[in-house]
Amino acid sequence: MPNLNSSFSHLNHRYLFSLISEKIKPFQHLDLVNLGIGDIARPLLKPIADAISLAVYEMTSLETIRGYGPETGYSFLKKAILKDEYQKFGFCEDEIFISEGINPEITVFHELFQAPLKVALQDPSYPAYYDTHVIAGTIDSVNRPCFLNTNHDLGFYPELPNEKVDLIYLCSPNNPTGAALTKKELKKWVDYALKNESIILYDGAYEAFITSEDVPRSIFEIENSKKCAVEFRSFSKSAGFTGLRCGYTVCPIDINFSKMNLNQLWTKYKTIRSNGVSYPIQRGAEKTFDPQIQVALKEQIQSYLKQTKYLKTALNEMGLETFGGTDAPFIFLKTPQSYNSWQFFDFLLEEFGIVVVPGSGFGQHGEGYVRLSGLITEATFEKAKIKFETLVKSGLYEAHH
Ligand code: MLT
Repeated sequence: MPNLNSSFSHLNHRYLFSLISEKIKPFQHLDLVNLGIGDIARPLLKPIADAISLAVYEMTSLETIRGYGPETGYSFLKKAILKDEYQKFGFCEDEIFISEGINPEITVFHELFQAPLKVALQDPSYPAYYDTHVIAGTIDSVNRPCFLNTNHDLGFYPELPNEKVDLIYLCSPNNPTGAALTKKELKKWVDYALKNESIILYDGAYEAFITSEDVPRSIFEIENSKKCAVEFRSFSKSAGFTGLRCGYTVCPIDINFSKMNLNQLWTKYKTIRSNGVSYPIQRGAEKTFDPQIQVALKEQIQSYLKQTKYLKTALNEMGLETFGGTDAPFIFLKTPQSYNSWQFFDFLLEEFGIVVVPGSGFGQHGEGYVRLSGLITEATFEKAKIKFETLVKSGLYEAHH
């Protein structure tokens, strides 16, 4: 009988988002207002759907049928990505890897490295980083990660490690706090990584929502970052692809360790582990770079940011303390004093039919907060506002504050 991977037993919790789905099931019959998982609320743009359909129909003809595609992605999409952003940093097609989104890439990238690994994680941060290291056995009761305190007193900027670490997971604009690293802050990380020979795995899922001028869109805007950083991007939130699945990883050819090249290893890994992303989806992703579509997508992002701002302003006007929501579609809301994150989650769900994400699900420094998604329609905002108003008027919030 084979032994099952005992590392799973060190995961003493259900995965955050699946636990939330489970918890809200009994309340589905109610008129729930979902500010939980950051999923899209606006439909796919028709021209993108047309590009996908056209590509599907290419499969029906002997002349244009496509079978297995290149494991690291089609050249047409890599070219569009380079032209849009990465060409100006001097990247080439071999450094762009088309993926099914950030999660399946960033959660396995550590397999390129030899254990033991010292992993640095923002606290709070996206829970899959931690959980997948536990499964891999690279985090356990002995090999603890270096948790980078990212709490409110630090302006939600992560604290630099006071030890030498191998892998640093940075997410900016941040999930869940909504805070975004300025150029000056990000440079500190690149300097640290260069000095300590660390690799930064830079999660740029919310890049499209950046509005602040001093916040870089890519880590590669920081000098010398090509020697220490890998960037992960996705079409999920920027173009409504959460259900279609497409993203890309930018792995520079300039990173070498003990005579091995990181880019070559990732290329090898991808060719072994992947048969590539489906051709029609890559055609759809290519379409997002069309200038007219770019304008429409920017409007879509603006509309999400508008709802986020409305929600944040409404909550603040009710006297509630919020953070984030400027460069990301996430608002970090302080819970009333006598509630921890999960208690407030349950309270909002059971009493008001509001779904949020408990901050403590992202790490211990997320305790005392809940995360609200602004990836919502105006109608959802209106409903949420009324529900929060009722909550605040009832005195319940204050009574527990
Ligand atoms: C979130 O709500 O944090 C994300 O949408 C979840 C994900 O991207 O997996």
